This record gives sequence, structure tokens and C-alpha cells, in this order.
Amino acid sequence: MHAVDIIEKKRDGEALSPEEIKWFIQAYTADDIPDYQAAAFCMAVLLRGMDTAEVTALTLAMVASGDTLDLSAVGDYVVDKHSSGGVGDKTSLVVLPLVAALGVPVAKMSGRGLGLSGGTLDKLEAIAGFNVNLAEDVLIAQAQRIGLALGGQTRQLAPADGKLYALRDVTGTVPSIPLIASSIMSKKIAAGAQGIVLDVKVGEGAFMESIDAARELAAMMVGIGRNVGRDMVALLSSMDQPLGLAVGNALEVAEAIHTLRGDGPADFVAHSLEVAAHMLYLAEAGAGRPADIDAARGALSAALDDGRGLDKFRQMVSAQGGDPRMVDEPSLLPQAAQTITVTAPTGGYVARVAARPIARAAFLLGAGRERKDDKIDPAVGVRVAVKVGDAVSAGDVLATLHVNDSAALDQARQLVEAAYHISAEPVARPPLFHGVMR
Ligand code: URA
Repeated sequence: MHAVDIIEKKRDGEALSPEEIKWFIQAYTADDIPDYQAAAFCMAVLLRGMDTAEVTALTLAMVASGDTLDLSAVGDYVVDKHSSGGVGDKTSLVVLPLVAALGVPVAKMSGRGLGLSGGTLDKLEAIAGFNVNLAEDVLIAQAQRIGLALGGQTRQLAPADGKLYALRDVTGTVPSIPLIASSIMSKKIAAGAQGIVLDVKVGEGAFMESIDAARELAAMMVGIGRNVGRDMVALLSSMDQPLGLAVGNALEVAEAIHTLRGDGPADFVAHSLEVAAHMLYLAEAGAGRPADIDAARGALSAALDDGRGLDKFRQMVSAQGGDPRMVDEPSLLPQAAQTITVTAPTGGYVARVAARPIARAAFLLGAGRERKDDKIDPAVGVRVAVKVGDAVSAGDVLATLHVNDSAALDQARQLVEAAYHISAEPVARPPLFHGVMR
């Protein structure tokens, strides 16, 4: 086979065979195809698209490029979740302890943040001593022992995706639904769970800005998962304003702990319970037990209310070397040197809290990293005080900036100020979810 023939075939809008796709990915992973041909391939896919059979073949070829995790020792049926990335999205910190508290084992490999998107590992590292570098046997043994382990990627899961993603990042080929779907699903399939809940974000703070595009991405990922024998659920959730109130690593951990204590922001609580309910539902159905989504919601609310989710979180923190006192007293988490408030210039109703400028402000304050090896500051970020639909009076606090280094403070403050729109007319609270796909 020749790379150029495959590129031309896709350029001309024809469907590629599984053999052609497998050959191309194998050869690219082995450095037998240069980046310029792989870039042309990605651009042809972006412009011409791929059908489900092609995307499944692409996903499987990327899975086959590396190792896969065997979770059979963790449980007969293991469930995983994935979020396509959102501002203030600390859902894993609440959802995973909750489902684990109800007997659904979790051994999850999470990622770090890059650019505006946060990463679960960075958030957990805000807890003093917390070790995310678990060897694979340690991750599995901990999940067997306490039902919950959360680490960084140890094995080479889908290395072809790592290589292709870096290339797409610099060739304008990230926003292609088949390429995003195969990229996400290759890592999820290699990570070993039988049931996968996808939280596909839609809105101005997400990859997918329109509901139609998010639905297409979700349908494609569900199709890939089904084609390779996984049980799939995809939720479409809104990402126009930050999820919850906190954006920034320690701030988000504190919010997750307050949520597990039954004292979380209403939207974040509802969002977490819904994601968790679908994980529990999949686990029950996968184990051959009667599954009922309302019963799952009820059981999870009870585990939130009686502190079983918080206990599980504390067990994980202790098992991974973190300081459990920070779970009992979140004010011990890293704190920024100063806080600066942004206040409402007029009274009215909050019509918009734009997620992207809030994320950018937190990033400028030091909460994120531009390059993989940049250091982040766990203490800094933005805590929004009001959300869309809330009534405010002139002078009310809209948001608080948590600051250590004032260099970018003015720019961050301006971004937060501009993120808010206040309307004279009442504004309805937006929906949290736009649909669910099984
Ligand atoms: N996340 C991924 O893992 N891959 C993409 O292509 C986009 C988002």
C-alpha cells in the first residue's frame, strides 16, 4: 500500500477499507509515514468525513498501536466515564467516590490539564502528598481493596493517538468529528472498562459549540463503542457557563469536598448525580441485575446525604498518600495570597457568565499550563458567585479572583468583568442537559 493512494482516496470522498486505515496508522506509528502525509490524511478526513465503519477501524487501529489495560481483577464489570472537557468540570471527584461507595469499582486513568481545559490529576495534586503516579498493579490492587483508585496514564495507551493529536494541534485538524471521536474512544477502549459514560459538553466553553455537532459526536462515539462490544451512554450537557462555582485546582477540590458533604452548588450536584446515575445503571445492567435509573438516582442521593461518598473520597486520598485532614478541613488546601472581587455595575438578572473568558482568566492567574511541562499554581483561580438566572443588585459580588502573582491580574479582572452580562429582564435558568443517548 502507498500512503499517497490512501490520502487521495479520502481526498476524493471515497470510504477507506479497514485494511487501508490499519496500514496507515501502523506505518505512521512506526515512523514509516512522515508527518506531512499524516497531516494531509487528517485534513482529508476533516474535509470529507468518515462513516461509522471507517471510524471504528481508525479507533481500533489506534487501540492496537499500544497496550490495553486488563481490569478483570478489579471486577467482573467495570464502568468508566469521560468528559469532553469543560470549565469548572470537577465531576470525576464527586461521581467516582459516589459510585464506588455503592459497590461499583473504579480504576481510572485520568489526564492533566492543557490550555484552558483542566485535568483531574492536577486538581488532586492540590491535596498535599497526593500521589497520582500509581504503577498499574498498585492502581488495580487499590481498586480491589477500597473500590477506587485514580492515577495518571502509566502504560502506553493508544500512542498513535498521542502522535496524531500533537500533529492535529498544529495543522488545524482538531475540530473533525471522526478524528475527535476516534481519539477519545481509542483511549477509553484501551483503558479497559466494559461500560462507558460519555459526558459530551456543548456550548461556548466546549469543543462542540452547537447541539447538532455535539449530538453527531456523541452518536459517533456511541456507535464506535457498540461496534467493539462496549455498553455506552452519552449525555449532552451544557457548557456555556462554568459548572458549579469554582474554576482552579484547589478551589475545585474544595467545591467537590463541600458537594460530597451535601453542600454543593445546585447545578453541580444535579450534574454529578446524573452522570453517576448512568454509571450505576450501566453497572447494574452489565452485571445482569435489574437496572432502574430513578432507583440509581435515589441510591446516589442517599450516599451523598449520609457521607458514604465523602468517606470513599477520604479513603482514596489516604491510600494515595494525600493528607486526609484537607478532606475534613478544605481551608487547609493551598490558599492564594489575595482575593479580588468583581462586582455588578448595575442591578438586574444575570444573563450570561461566559465560560471561556472565566477559564482564560484562571489560566492567566496560573491555574493552567500552556505546555506539558509548565508548572501550575494550585491555589489560584476564579470563584463565580452568581450564575445565569440569579438576581443581583448593583455592587453585589459577581466573582472572586484568587491571586498569587499580580502580573496578569488586570487582564484577568477585565476578562471576568466582560464575561458577565446583566439584563434588566428576568432570565430563565438554562437546562443542564440537552439529551441522553444510549
Ligand atoms: N479530546 C481528545 O482526547 N481528543 C480529541 O481529539 C479532542 C478532545
